[in-house]
Amino acid sequence: MKGVILHGGSGTRLRPITHTEVKQLLPVAGKPVSEYALEDMIEIGIREINIIVGSVGADAVTGYYGDGSKWGVSITYTHQPKPLGIAHAVGLTEDFVAGDTFVVYLGDNLLNGGIGKLSDAFGEGRFDALVALCRVNRPQSYGVAELEEGRIVRLVEKPKQPKSNLALVGVYFFRPDIFDVIRTLKPSARGELEITEAIQKLIEEGRNVGYQEIKGWWKDTGTTEEILDANRLVLDEIERQIDGKVASETGIIGRVRVMSGASVDAQSVIKGPCHIGSGTEITHSVIGPNTSIGNNCRISGVEIEDSIIMDGCIIEGNREMRLYESIIGTSCKISKNSGIKRASKMIVGRDSDIAV
Ligand code: G1P
Repeated sequence: MKGVILHGGSGTRLRPITHTEVKQLLPVAGKPVSEYALEDMIEIGIREINIIVGSVGADAVTGYYGDGSKWGVSITYTHQPKPLGIAHAVGLTEDFVAGDTFVVYLGDNLLNGGIGKLSDAFGEGRFDALVALCRVNRPQSYGVAELEEGRIVRLVEKPKQPKSNLALVGVYFFRPDIFDVIRTLKPSARGELEITEAIQKLIEEGRNVGYQEIKGWWKDTGTTEEILDANRLVLDEIERQIDGKVASETGIIGRVRVMSGASVDAQSVIKGPCHIGSGTEITHSVIGPNTSIGNNCRISGVEIEDSIIMDGCIIEGNREMRLYESIIGTSCKISKNSGIKRASKMIVGRDSDIAV
């Protein structure tokens, strides 16, 4: 089996962050969202992976994943010049798939517990395609499945009046004949070739489309709230790991990860769950809970909770700054100079320089 991970789309709902960052590379608990998809694929034995990149941020994606040797797999790339839909992107991978079975994973989807059960069910060989479903509160934002007697009878993309609360998760198992179906698709109302419609066509042809319901959590990290939520959920599962230099163990509370080369001074408190990236220096600060700090940051005199701070940020709070539910892009500088203590919720794009 082969693997395809999508990194296209413009991430409009994650602006301003996605003006300068690729949404699938946004860090969750110290790792890009799409690296969890890669790990899920590796776990089920996939060794050949194709990443589809769009016109935005392709260099960042190829720069991060390279040829895959860091993960012991082969990674190749396909360029989708315009965001013409998931099915269009999948259609571009026919040569890579070369007659094999394959799994498509949307790079902004995060799944608790991996894809082992899905892969086992598909591996039994009964199904022409297999999808994952998850019960959600707002099914109209997703592809929605209608079931009858334990079988999928209809899939509709973002229906105004959903017939069920079973959303299509962004993980799909296919056989190579899906490419023939994709060739027959016409653009939807949003101008895209819809993967949901391709699978619906399989159902209409009387093919056997299987499903598994996801019992754990699932996140489509399309908004800032969802990214922060995903960060909380993944951090909730980490183990305590102190590889960096910690001046006072009593200041490190609970499940905290301090990566090698990071340092925390005796005047700081880190409340788990919390991830502190390598090379990061924390002084006179209270960090956590539910916070991920990237690599090579300098954080001083600030309280940060429920937030994601990306690599290379400098935050100087002068002991008068509190950040909550914030996402701070790569290499930002945030400083405090007004003298009044204030709590701020900030969503800040890469390379910004802000004084509050
Ligand atoms: C896409 C699919 C949708 C699916 C969702 C999962 O939506 O079209 O069927 O439920 O991913 O993340 P999009 O993210 O393109 O709006």
